Amino acid sequence: MNDEEIYVRLIDVGKEFSGVRVLRNINLDFRKGEIHALVGENGAGKSTVGKIAGGYYSRSSGDLEIFGEAVSHWDPAAALKSGIAMMHQELQLVPELTVAQNVFLGIENNRGSFLTNDEPARLAAVIEVCGFQLDPNARAGSLSLADQQKIEIMRAIARDAKVIVMDEPTSSLTADEADRLHATMRRLRAMGRTIIYVSHFLDHVLSIADRVTIMREGAVVRTGSIAEETKASLVAGMLGDAGADVSYLDKTPPVRGAPPLLSVRGLVSDNGVKGADLEIHPGEIVGLIGLVGSGRTEIARAIFGADKTTAGAVMFDGKDYDDRSPRESVARGLAMVPEDRRKQGLVLSQTVRPNMTLPHLGIFSAGGFMKTGAERNAVRSLIDYFGVSPRHVDGDVVHYSGGNQQKVLLAKWIMEEPKLVILDEPSRGVDLGARRRIHEFIVELARKGAGVLLISSEIEEVLGLAHRAYLVREGRTFREIVPEEQGMDQILWALFHDEQSKTARSHS
Ligand SMILES: Nc1ncnc2c1ncn2[C@@H]1O[C@H](COP(=O)(O)OP(=O)(O)OP(=O)(O)O)[C@@H](O)[C@H]1O
Ligand SMILES: [Mg+2]
Repeated sequence: MNDEEIYVRLIDVGKEFSGVRVLRNINLDFRKGEIHALVGENGAGKSTVGKIAGGYYSRSSGDLEIFGEAVSHWDPAAALKSGIAMMHQELQLVPELTVAQNVFLGIENNRGSFLTNDEPARLAAVIEVCGFQLDPNARAGSLSLADQQKIEIMRAIARDAKVIVMDEPTSSLTADEADRLHATMRRLRAMGRTIIYVSHFLDHVLSIADRVTIMREGAVVRTGSIAEETKASLVAGMLGDAGADVSYLDKTPPVRGAPPLLSVRGLVSDNGVKGADLEIHPGEIVGLIGLVGSGRTEIARAIFGADKTTAGAVMFDGKDYDDRSPRESVARGLAMVPEDRRKQGLVLSQTVRPNMTLPHLGIFSAGGFMKTGAERNAVRSLIDYFGVSPRHVDGDVVHYSGGNQQKVLLAKWIMEEPKLVILDEPSRGVDLGARRRIHEFIVELARKGAGVLLISSEIEEVLGLAHRAYLVREGRTFREIVPEEQGMDQILWALFHDEQSKTARSHS
């Protein structure tokens, strides 16, 4: 390989955080015009490699060469200036600014004022490359997670980056949107750009990457051509000796004949719910299936009391539940694990322990005193159960890898056993082992008699776990299905159908 063709090279790179070694002797090169995937379990070091390339982390040892030249001082601004952009796993947008302002943030032609006349033209050029459509005047903070992710993609393209680090860019996209992102990635590759692509979706990796690097416990297991890998070989490399069974669990049928634990009729909210009807029985796992933006999360929020509702009736645990609020929900035994863990789930300034126990302090206090021993033991056993890494009761969650933050968040909800749990994208961004444990946890909750409302963009995940599911479109539950009786094609057809008939109408 000609040296000019190597855009980024890590030579014996090591990284430590306060004495803890998280990367060891990393030797890696990223070449011109390749999509190079990084795969590995949560905490393997993928994001850290990306951040070292992008200038967000300095290396503790080893060398870094960018476009063939050794660099010493390296930070995000220097990286961006040389043409290396990073899309973060946890989005970094300014919610108050518009889409266009976020895309051009820091590279405005007219500093201090966003309203330059060539902005629409510049934005059009970016949209041309990425193939996404977004309202340039929409406030970033008002958009769905998927749309916010699109802004990050547009931002990297607007900077004309030669190397783009994409850290789990498809984690909140639907299959269709992920396909579109992949088309964008192929276009960028054809333009000679390099993409460092971190993903837990091995199917995506196999279909789009040119080369793949498998990481485990801070080291490179191997780098090779994607043609030489299969899903099984990747998984085996990621897990090492641990091995893993990735099949779905048996579904225990729920108790029949019991009155519903939750019953929702005609729910309407200010936040986009236009008519939700559903029931969940004790011991039942019920899914909500819909495209991103269909209103699944909004239905969950309306039930939980996070959003104001203007019509409809909710019964929970045999009682009317009209004055809903998150606090009251928790008091009644309803739990909700939100989709956007960074914003809503974790207190990043705190350690693992309070993040898991804060809503449950009641069970750890007696006569006004905290039973700290009991609290620490409970936290420790949940760390073990979910395989949270590092395994520190007092670890700073802000520094945990994305998947490990997700595990902490989930653990919080089994501290006390809730009667009904709403899980919004519970396995997003977690590795296969943790995903398996999360699935076991969901099945186990139901087996003990709790109800579960499961939202996931991966329709297969819902079909594999749920006893029943409701299809959601435009803020409405419009059909109830039993997974075993429905083909994927039928479901997708139903989800897309309305949009097609609407376009047909608007053309007539
Ligand atoms: N700023 C930091 N301070 C301390 N430890 C850190 C920091 N950033 C990362 N780590 C640790 O480094 C290890 C590797 O983390 P990294 O984020 O690179 O993992 P990852 O492979 O991207 O995992 P995931 O799939 O969960 O996103 C983890 O153990 C993590 O806790
Ligand atoms: Mg990561």
